[in-house]
Amino acid sequence: MAINVDVVGIGPGNTDQITVEAIKALRGADFFLLVTKRRETEELVEIREQILDRHVGGDWRSHTIFVQDAERGRSEDASEQAEAVAEWRAERARRFADVLREVPSGARVAVLAWGDPALYDSTLGVLEDVRSNGGAELEIRVVPGISSIQALAAGHRIGLNRVGGAVELTTGRRLAAGLPREADDVVVLLDGSCAFRDVDEEGVELFWGAYLGTPDELLIAGPLEETAEEVVRVRAEAKERKGWMFDTYLLRRRANRPR
Ligand SMILES: C[S@@+](CC[C@H](N)C(=O)[O-])C[C@H]1O[C@@H](n2cnc3c(N)ncnc32)[C@H](O)[C@@H]1O
Repeated sequence: MAINVDVVGIGPGNTDQITVEAIKALRGADFFLLVTKRRETEELVEIREQILDRHVGGDWRSHTIFVQDAERGRSEDASEQAEAVAEWRAERARRFADVLREVPSGARVAVLAWGDPALYDSTLGVLEDVRSNGGAELEIRVVPGISSIQALAAGHRIGLNRVGGAVELTTGRRLAAGLPREADDVVVLLDGSCAFRDVDEEGVELFWGAYLGTPDELLIAGPLEETAEEVVRVRAEAKERKGWMFDTYLLRRRANRPR
């Protein structure tokens, strides 16, 4: 019999921003799989623990399998970076396979995925790797979550698209190659180096948010040329204070489009 794995979207960091379906999935789990992080980002694990304290309660820790996250190399070079990510993912798959092998068949395991599992999250890919490498027989179910992008739009009280317009989701690394031409609204995640500073186009608005949904939430909005340096400064101060940074932003061409 297979192991049932529920990949549960837990929202972007606020114990209120979780769906009823996700809470039911957590309460129905026999085991929880929690990925632990390096010391600077342990708050990300604490938030997961708060979710379990609040929505599951009891002695959830005694049913929890802690998996130490693999170290990931970083490089400015795109092909070296792709290789580092592939190695990290393969190591994560090995670690998942090792612990899932110990789970009794037929049991239900909840894997907590930050935000929504469909958005820049490796959990589903890693579980597919475990399955295809013969690491364990898995029956996977996905429970959607509120993503950081939804929290960004809510924080700024904006829609992401304008009437009939397209929205592009991208990364800081890709933005560094230029603001995409196909969409007038571009949402950027995973930007460790403030790539918005390299956008030299005029008439662009920035809607930036960090630690969205959490008590430390930061929001800044305005014309890119007027807000970019403020974001760089506020971001650096917050990262220094907390030891880690999660930020997301929308770049919007001020074209003649109705909102
Ligand atoms: C590995 S991705 C995970 C995205 C996640 N699956 C989601 O649905 O939001 C991590 C990136 O998501 C964004 N992010 C996640 N949580 C965030 C938050 N609370 N505030 C701002 N950005 C966040 C940041 O761009 C961060 O670098």
